[in-house]
Amino acid sequence: MFRTRRLRKTENIRRLVRETKLSVDDLIYPLFIEEGKDIETEIVSMPGIKRFSLDRISKELDEVIALNIPAVLLFGIPSKKDDEGSETWNDNGVIQQAIRFIKKNYPNLYIITDVCFCEYTSHGHCGIIYDNDVDNDATLVNIAKQSISHAKAGADMIAPSGMMDGTIAMVREALDNSGFLDTPIMAYSVKYASAYYGPFRDAADSAPSFGDRRTYQMDAANRDEAMRKATFDDAEGADILMVKPALSYLDIIRDLKNNFDRPIACYNVSGEYAMIKAAAKNGWIDGEKVMMESLLSMKRAGADIIITYFAKEVAKLL
Ligand code: PBG
Ligand code: ZN
Repeated sequence: MFRTRRLRKTENIRRLVRETKLSVDDLIYPLFIEEGKDIETEIVSMPGIKRFSLDRISKELDEVIALNIPAVLLFGIPSKKDDEGSETWNDNGVIQQAIRFIKKNYPNLYIITDVCFCEYTSHGHCGIIYDNDVDNDATLVNIAKQSISHAKAGADMIAPSGMMDGTIAMVREALDNSGFLDTPIMAYSVKYASAYYGPFRDAADSAPSFGDRRTYQMDAANRDEAMRKATFDDAEGADILMVKPALSYLDIIRDLKNNFDRPIACYNVSGEYAMIKAAAKNGWIDGEKVMMESLLSMKRAGADIIITYFAKEVAKLL
């Protein structure tokens, strides 16, 4: 008889044949930075995650450093919005200040910035509106301005998340022309129009005020299209390809892993976090175990890097 159970007999043999391991080296921790003073607001639908103003964020960063988490992904919440999101390229904007603050006080922490507009536009869309839709090419110009402003402030890596076509080529050229030849780009290559973003939009105050994002984010039904989009980002020079959300899209993560010679990242998004937290709070699941199993499944699917709100909790358990 074929006996596959022989190699499951004890924890020691299971350790020896274990194929996938989670490591703190894999983790990126997202941070919400709000413009203003004395702000430390818990996000109701994301227990344990807060919006901080810069003067209150040191405790959080100390923890990230102590846990040896290599990188943070910054999201800004500005005090004023307009229809273009012009605060995004203000060299003294909330994110630019945050980058300088972190670089000065935590020089060893790797800083990745999310480049988008939805937290900064009065209409909540990820770019400039023309004719009731986001105008791709007009938005590209502003993506370049925002990226350069982040790089000038000291960002280590740029992560454009708006799903505009031509973004990676545009950002690469803009960075290169400004002397940032060595600043890598993490492409939100395959970003689906997903209901799993709900809690984030509360957290970042970025819900669209009309319509939805289905003219720029991908249809959840599509797998071939994911390859097409990743192929373009790869060709345009993305250094890392990302899939978002993670758990419902493990097949896409594996497709990218098998087809591209680039590190693959996935974004374990707010709704995935909220579901586990809510069920655990009710005593319906073992939150810690489900968290570890979920993140492990992302690695098994092929993710080299996981962006997750669980980063601190996971790091404590590893
Ligand atoms: C938008 C953006 C989104 C997230 C990060 N940046 C999604 C959206 O609102 O469409 C979601 C992250 C999460 O849910 O954790 N540029
Ligand atoms: Zn956006």
